[in-house]
Amino acid sequence: MSKLIICNEYKKSKIEPEIYGHFSEHLGRCIYEGLYVGEDSDIPNTNGMRNDVVSALREMKIPVLRWPGGCFADEYHWMDGVGPREKRKKMINTHWGGVVEDNSFGTHEYFELCRQLGCKTYVNANLGSGTVREMSEWVEYMTFNGVSPMADLRKENGHEEPWKLDYIGVGNENWGCGGNMRPSHYADEYRRYQTYVRNYNGNTPVKKICCGPNVDDYEWTREVLKTCFDHSMPSQHGFMDGLSLHYYTLPETEDDWNYKGSATDFTEDIFYQTLKRGFFMEELITKHGNIMDEFDPEKKIGLMVDEWGIWTDVEKGTNPGFLYQQNTMRDALVAGMTLNIFNKHSDRVKMANIAQLINVLQSVMLTDGERMIKTPTYYVFRMYAAHQDSTLLSSELLNNPTVGSGKNELPKVFESVSEDRDGVITITLTNNSLESAEDIEIALTKDGGSYNICESSVVTGRMNAHNTFDMPDVVKEEEFKDYSRTGEGFKLTIPKCSVVSVRIRK
Ligand code: AHR
Repeated sequence: MSKLIICNEYKKSKIEPEIYGHFSEHLGRCIYEGLYVGEDSDIPNTNGMRNDVVSALREMKIPVLRWPGGCFADEYHWMDGVGPREKRKKMINTHWGGVVEDNSFGTHEYFELCRQLGCKTYVNANLGSGTVREMSEWVEYMTFNGVSPMADLRKENGHEEPWKLDYIGVGNENWGCGGNMRPSHYADEYRRYQTYVRNYNGNTPVKKICCGPNVDDYEWTREVLKTCFDHSMPSQHGFMDGLSLHYYTLPETEDDWNYKGSATDFTEDIFYQTLKRGFFMEELITKHGNIMDEFDPEKKIGLMVDEWGIWTDVEKGTNPGFLYQQNTMRDALVAGMTLNIFNKHSDRVKMANIAQLINVLQSVMLTDGERMIKTPTYYVFRMYAAHQDSTLLSSELLNNPTVGSGKNELPKVFESVSEDRDGVITITLTNNSLESAEDIEIALTKDGGSYNICESSVVTGRMNAHNTFDMPDVVKEEEFKDYSRTGEGFKLTIPKCSVVSVRIRK
């Protein structure tokens, strides 16, 4: 039996809601069909946004949505996506399937979507193929509340008031699809571009995100911070509020993007290998975080993991450029484990955006015409939503066995614990084993005996269990009942291959 000690007197960092963030790119059927169907569609919608999708995302408490890319962002020219739709320019989406992008979803539609979702906004600007002027005018268009060429244009296009822009990414993957730059070159460009991200009308400042490393490129992190983190700036964080990190979990080959492995058809060895590769996130955050500590020991800037998740081969018969993949219990475990890792590093990780929201990579939902299904990953996000805006509590798991073997060995259980403003404690756990349930004794260091379980849920199933349009409820969130009281707290038995959430209050 393992033992989870919760030091409920020892409160750690705040878990920013943005850690539970999402990413939507003009890629495949994410924006078009997934989120936006247009006002004239037979699919029930509000101002073009699918009602079923919006309501499920609200229920999941989506806190922030990154848009318009990804690689697409560094080829996106925002002016093409404003004004009367019939007059908007058409372009080829060279990155993703070579399809025609008609720009019918642009800036106004994005802010309307975020309004309906009730979430924060995160726009990724074009540094790779755009200009400083183009980016700076976009910021003016979105946020200036006065008389100016861009504010006037926004009004002409039907939106009188400025919008609230919470975050701006200055380029995306500029070490790769965003211009193939060397870190020193990007760092100088970043300094220049970010200068022109103005804060109009004394609004809360737009938070600026600098393009960070690809996976374990520690040199990029150091080089960019050396140039862009400026201690002498009077503002608290100099030129940036966050540094991004991208890491995808490839199940089969480590870096051969032509053979990533199937989303649903895999062996037990590949299951453990995938989880172990997901667990690499812990090392990445620690090592990039250590470099950030050298420059920013007070942790003023956040590590923004704004692309993460499992990336498999596409579903048979679908456009390879659309990155449409199924989602199984394996995805649920990688999501649960990774979110626990983010919570535990919430002193440094201030935002994370799983890729991508719908119909692309590790999505929370899939659509087929008017049909929509929730994936196992959706339920994990909904179960973990209680962590948003809570405070991380110190916790330690004793006698935690391992699963998998050799290079794929990893801890059996991953956990994190937080307390919300009302004193409700949320404990989330994954059991990564395909063989056995795990008995866990939970002990609180203060008043353990006076807490009661007020909510508890579980998602569980075979390792490749997944929902389809014909069988949408194979994997779903269910009530978790396998617990009992002890003197210091509780005893749980969490099923094999499961993600569990337990909430307790006095
Ligand atoms: O999420 C798909 C792609 O992965 C993004 O466009 C890019 O930033 C990353 O390489």
